[in-house]
Amino acid sequence: MAEPKENVLMEKIVSLCKRRGFIFQSSEIYGGINGFWDYGPLGAELKRNVKELWWNTMTRLREDVVGLEATIIMHPQIWKASGHVDTFADMMRECPVTKKRVRADQVEPQTGTVYRFFGAYEVASGEELRAEFGEADLEAAVAALYREAGFSATGQLAQETALTTRQETLLTRLRQSFRFERVALLITKMQGGRVAQALAAKNACAYYRLQGMKNPCAVRADTDSGQMVEGTTDFHSESGFELGPSRPFNLMFKTYVGPVADEENVAYLRPETAQAIFAQFKNVLDSSRQKAPFGIAQIGKAFRNEVTPRNFTFRSREFEQMELEFFIKPDEAVEAIAGGVASVADAFGVPPSGGTPAKAGTPNEPQPNWGWEAWHKYWVEERIKFYEGIGLPRTTLEEYWQRPEELAHYARATVDILFKFPFGTQELEGIAARSDFDLSQHERFSGKPMGVFDEELRAAWGKLDKTKQEELWRRYFENRKKYLVKSGVEAEQASKEAREDADALAKGHYIPHVIEPSAGVDRLILALICNAYSEDQMPDEKGKPESRVVLKLHPRVAPIKVAVLPLLKNKPNLVSKAQEVRDLLRKHMNVFYDDTGAIGRRYRRQDEAGTPFCVTVDFETFEGMKEGPLAGQIDTVTVRHRDDGAQERLHISGLLAWLVERVR
Ligand code: GAP
Repeated sequence: MAEPKENVLMEKIVSLCKRRGFIFQSSEIYGGINGFWDYGPLGAELKRNVKELWWNTMTRLREDVVGLEATIIMHPQIWKASGHVDTFADMMRECPVTKKRVRADQVEPQTGTVYRFFGAYEVASGEELRAEFGEADLEAAVAALYREAGFSATGQLAQETALTTRQETLLTRLRQSFRFERVALLITKMQGGRVAQALAAKNACAYYRLQGMKNPCAVRADTDSGQMVEGTTDFHSESGFELGPSRPFNLMFKTYVGPVADEENVAYLRPETAQAIFAQFKNVLDSSRQKAPFGIAQIGKAFRNEVTPRNFTFRSREFEQMELEFFIKPDEAVEAIAGGVASVADAFGVPPSGGTPAKAGTPNEPQPNWGWEAWHKYWVEERIKFYEGIGLPRTTLEEYWQRPEELAHYARATVDILFKFPFGTQELEGIAARSDFDLSQHERFSGKPMGVFDEELRAAWGKLDKTKQEELWRRYFENRKKYLVKSGVEAEQASKEAREDADALAKGHYIPHVIEPSAGVDRLILALICNAYSEDQMPDEKGKPESRVVLKLHPRVAPIKVAVLPLLKNKPNLVSKAQEVRDLLRKHMNVFYDDTGAIGRRYRRQDEAGTPFCVTVDFETFEGMKEGPLAGQIDTVTVRHRDDGAQERLHISGLLAWLVERVR
């Protein structure tokens, strides 16, 4: 069957995720909260598997990477040092009335007449108040409220007037009864001398309508209320209404530590896990006895107040990252020790850029003469191999080498690994060569040394001839000076500090450079589900072709590895044998036991859940096989393969080993 079209496909995927308990909208019973997602029973298992595979691949299966689990809230200086406080921002424009913000680069040019329409309010409350207090008191109280809210439909605030006790009581009631938009509506309409009428659903909020044009703010307001509100008699005409000027809007979520909510106690929810690794670099180094090249890995939550969360979980406001900071020697140190720095072509036989994939099986084992370029290429390849190993073929991925003008100011090179999502080819992971920027910044901001001592370098330096020493010293000096000047250190001071750094290099001291493979867990989950989603035809029990939805997840990530099914629920011997098989397997993998419904329907349910194998206990389990290689044997089961529906017979005694080989 042909694959479904792209946006239809996305709708089907979102619907499957909800139906089968992979992903739910957060706080759904309250209408949801934009940019936040929850993982249901199957999603939670899938996510655990992915994180565990990443963790094992990056740490336990290597000698040179150790783990870290740091807090989400850290000292705010960390975000000053990293540059997030000053530069982690999108340019935004704000709607002066709804206070909604839109990305400045997404505002369409606007000209023409603007009509402002205030959405519905609860007419009953208005009428009740009018009946209880009378027109004059109501008008006085709403005018006060109008003024209090700083709202003006005419361009002028209502005059401040003293209220009577009765009007004060009414004002308190109004404050409790109406949201600002509703009050504004009520007041506007009353000022127009008319009793307001409810025009639409009570949660509709104000929206703007540009004749023949789309106002992004309006679109967002409509999306929030879930409906378009149309009216004819109640449009209030204004000309020259505009969104506010373009201003940077920091993407970090702010909070306060302790009971006092003032600037001194501001803290941030971390926008990336990486900075904790830099901040704890020395502690990890001292306690783990690692030395460069080595890495620190972390998996954890990150938060970004994204302006436009979109594409299901792709761009969320709360998400998880899997990050490795791999610390390497600066090229000058490598050259001093190894006599030269291998080019990428030397190391792998492929050019360093242009997206040419490395040959299968490359890169080679890390070598002492690898500089940052070889290490960078190495990690790009390692990461692609990881994706291949969990079921994302290389053909679904693309390598995008950022152009020099796209690079972050500290990055020497960045490769994005892109996945072909149904909504476009988009970033799954970024692998950046971050130079010694991060540790240097933390050294400057904390005043604590972040450098390492490398005995191999000290010994090698002493054996270099004078010319080589001078050449390496000069290169290191220039690099350090460039960094310091870029970071705002005044030129003379930068030269002095860079000279000290280069002198220290000659004695075996340096600040390690970093290669950072940074992946998003949620994006990877989405990529795996999109890649696995498939519709095909499978014969039912009577051999009649039947359409099915199947998630062809790699067995290593599949949330349920095997479903154990007794053929019939009302046969005690089938049920107890099936439960025996379940108990045998479930100490080793996630097993699902299901005895309800026709066997075909149970298979279909597991197909949608992505379960690679179903094990069925049937009459032949007891009676013995009549034919085939296991003829005459009892205690055999049918194993049904999800992707092609093929079935084979296995003895229970060999089942565990057979499954383990396939799901780990
Ligand atoms: N420490 C580097 C860093 O954070 P990034 O490119 O901003 O780099 C790394 O983020 C990865 O984190 C991305 O490739 C993506 O997989 C994931 N990510 C970033 N923002 C995200 C968001 N709003 N929602 C989901 N995943 C996100």
